[in-house]
Amino acid sequence: MEKLVIRGGKRLEGTIPVSGAKNAALPLMCAPLLTEEPVTLENLPRLADINTLADLLNHMGVAITIAAGQGGRIRGRSLTFSAAEINDTVAPYDFVRKMRASIIVLGPLVARAGEAIVSLPGGCAIGNRPIDLHLKALAALGAEIDLEEGYVRASAPRGLTGGLIRFPFASVGATENALMAATLAKGTTTIENAAREPEIVDLAKCLNAMGAKITGAGHETITIEGVDRLHGCTHTVMPDRIEAGSYAVAALMTGGDVFLEGAVAHDMGAILDKLREAGAIVEEKADGVRVKAGAGGIKGFNIVTQPFPGFPTDMQAQFMALATVADGASIITEAIFENRFMHVPELCRLGADITVTGASATVRGVQKLKSAPVMATDLRASMGLALAGLVASGETTVNRLYHLDRGYERLEEKLRGVGADVDRVPG
Ligand code: EPU
Repeated sequence: MEKLVIRGGKRLEGTIPVSGAKNAALPLMCAPLLTEEPVTLENLPRLADINTLADLLNHMGVAITIAAGQGGRIRGRSLTFSAAEINDTVAPYDFVRKMRASIIVLGPLVARAGEAIVSLPGGCAIGNRPIDLHLKALAALGAEIDLEEGYVRASAPRGLTGGLIRFPFASVGATENALMAATLAKGTTTIENAAREPEIVDLAKCLNAMGAKITGAGHETITIEGVDRLHGCTHTVMPDRIEAGSYAVAALMTGGDVFLEGAVAHDMGAILDKLREAGAIVEEKADGVRVKAGAGGIKGFNIVTQPFPGFPTDMQAQFMALATVADGASIITEAIFENRFMHVPELCRLGADITVTGASATVRGVQKLKSAPVMATDLRASMGLALAGLVASGETTVNRLYHLDRGYERLEEKLRGVGADVDRVPG
């Protein structure tokens, strides 16, 4: 098991290229299941989660090839996904347990093949994470849902029918599943209280390029007029707003000045607002976002995580790391997941002063963090610890680097590129 060794205290300065968004890429990779024609995705990040989903799609009969003609400004991988035939409609436990986002194959599979059998993901490190909303959405489109031996079977042998889906909570994954399933349903589907995350907009853009008729993505109500078939297309994955936000926090924490090349300010509203409140100078440019530490140091702030356009839960751990070295106290409330404070005891090992009461953490800023070996059980928590390591005195070791490899492409290379003293070493 590899680990990340960080010798803290370096000011970060320079340019960090932002990769394609993991949470846009994963649903986008499922869209090709809806058509027998090839779909090419450009700017895919090189991440463990992408490889896990590629293996699952392969298992189902999707041929994945490196796309020709890659180059120019596009840095990520371009892959072509060809689901000419789907020869297995089962997503086995071995895949789903590795990555619960595998559940997003459910909607496109049942829409295209009339059946999908997907292992129930079970709980995960950040909470219980049920899939009831995914199943209710597919049932509203006429799919029959059965649960058998840890698997969910959705079947619609005569195809899905458009209908009204009203989510009691704006779930990202359930909206993506519903959106993809509805593209091939007979008639019109309306999704009310849909998730409004930019990744949903990116998915709808790709589906529309495949011939779908979707309007309203990015708003509370999405309308999908079903079509008989979809065709191939080429789509470029949006930049990763969470990766960009994480490095933006690194810039402020280290008193630095970093240009996040390719970051889209429009998708990062709540993150950039909070950075400014904490003392950063943020410049929104056409080709990226510049984040610079202000003269007044880091000020305490309050956060409540919310669905987009609110403050993202995927940035909570990183901002908590920022709060540990802020001037004054910050209150951070996690309102999306019930168990997303695993970084708290680890940050305390680095000298942070944090008290958790229910879903809220009170963080009192300290003068200095001190290095220690730390370990987290999820991706964003690990990033929070890495950020703390960047400002801690001495050498901080973040164990279980594989968590970071799920969501941060070339992490140590990007950090080294702006002056951090970081190494990947064998465990
Ligand atoms: N929920 C239900 N029932 C459902 C679906 C969700 O109760 O059927 C609950 C969840 O348990 C959770 C809340 O609703 O408490 C939010 O879940 P949501 O469905 O919106 O999240 P997701 O689709 O499972 C995606 C991202 C997460 C991100 C969340 C929230 C992907 C692959 N994952 O998960 O990303 O935290 O949205 O924004 O897009 C990460 O990248 O580190 C990560 C965990």
